[in-house]
Amino acid sequence: MSRFFIDRMALWCYNISIMNTRETLKINAKGHLEIGGADACDLAEKFSTPLYVFDEKHIRDMMAVYRDTIEEEYGGHGCVLYASKAFSCEAMYAIARQERIGVDVVSGGELYTALKAGFPAEKIYMHGNNKLSHEIAEALDAHIGCIVVDAFSEADLIEREAEARGIVQKVLIRINPGVEAHTHAYVQTATPDSKFGFSVASGAAEAIVRHVLTKKHLKLCGFHCHIGSQIFEKASFVLAVEKNLKFMAEMKERLGFETEELNLGGGFGIWYTDEDPKIPVAGYRDYLSALLDAVKKGCGEYRLKEPFILLEPGRSIVGEAGVTLYRVGAIKEIPGIRKYLAVDGGMFDNPRFALYGSKYTAVLANRAAEEPQEVVAIAGKCCESGDLIGTNFNLPKAKVGDIVAILSTGAYNYSMASNYNRNLIPPAILVKDGRADYIVRPQSYEDLVRSDAIPDRLK
Ligand SMILES: Cc1ncc(COP(=O)(O)O)c(C=O)c1O
Repeated sequence: MSRFFIDRMALWCYNISIMNTRETLKINAKGHLEIGGADACDLAEKFSTPLYVFDEKHIRDMMAVYRDTIEEEYGGHGCVLYASKAFSCEAMYAIARQERIGVDVVSGGELYTALKAGFPAEKIYMHGNNKLSHEIAEALDAHIGCIVVDAFSEADLIEREAEARGIVQKVLIRINPGVEAHTHAYVQTATPDSKFGFSVASGAAEAIVRHVLTKKHLKLCGFHCHIGSQIFEKASFVLAVEKNLKFMAEMKERLGFETEELNLGGGFGIWYTDEDPKIPVAGYRDYLSALLDAVKKGCGEYRLKEPFILLEPGRSIVGEAGVTLYRVGAIKEIPGIRKYLAVDGGMFDNPRFALYGSKYTAVLANRAAEEPQEVVAIAGKCCESGDLIGTNFNLPKAKVGDIVAILSTGAYNYSMASNYNRNLIPPAILVKDGRADYIVRPQSYEDLVRSDAIPDRLK
């Protein structure tokens, strides 16, 4: 290899390594992108594209950093719950079980998947702003640890269902502390105009506490709040803690209700592009430390018992662990406007650009050591002009057949995927030390028509 090539490769390796703060990505001697010790080109060859690839080590490291921080800085008086909406499949619940953390679920489907994977029911928390009666029934039948109440009618429903079963169900109440976090409007959840939670400012939060305390089959343990997602400012999280503690103090003073559990939700940001901070795994300890310090300080000031602390990170656990591999098909250059690379995936496996204008970083996995030469848009194959993975990717001049890797696609990609245009949702593989296994198998055309029905009059 020439000195010139080695220098350029070192430079580009450096670029890649700073693009991703984890050990997830490397460039190997062939100049190919490597994920969790596996050559991305080999993975694309063996498993075909489009393909979701997940690095197991990164997922475990992230779960561990939260778990260990609670252990070391809060005497283990708390628990991390993986927010499984970020990426739900049986293997994720199996990893969470092995890492000795809990999970949160937001639907009967996520609950079913967790239970099917053998996840301990008592470590499952259920969320949702409109839980259906059958979902509540399924949760109670499974004896899950806790339901987070998000409506008056829901409290009544859980009470009736718990009474019918002769049980007392542990609940938290989701409050809206009114914190405007600096993130996309669609993922802010604690502003005054939100479908989630009970507003503290309007008095709705106190009203639901009074309501739940009258129920014989509900055991109110405390409160939950989640201010939004992809947030980097510690100050927003700390403000949410302070507002929660103030509310806890008010409930103690006015109603004699002492909070045992405080669930601070998720929301920590991750790296997608160089516009985002690069937080190493250990850096997430600082976020949690800031929250725990604020809890301890506030409890001292208000003379409250330090509550059992729960945290619900989703994106930060699985987001940077994921890479999606595509193959370049049609290439179209519109002079003076833009160049499109069309890939074999699109909004059916990653709708986040269409939904939020989300930005990503792309790498040509088979030419990862080459420097970028042009700015291109990456389009999907759906019949929709907005079907884009993004519009401003710096890449070497791509050719038909090249493999494109989109980085940081582990969270809210597979979980938001659809069969739009009857495209098949790609399979997912889990990679560890170079070994890759399916965690979501490929769909088939037969899967697409499995639930279809033709009424007799159409035959
Ligand atoms: C209630 C709740 N908890 C946790 C999360 C996870 O947030 P994130 O993936 O940003 O960590 C969400 C995401 O929307 C949520 O709604």
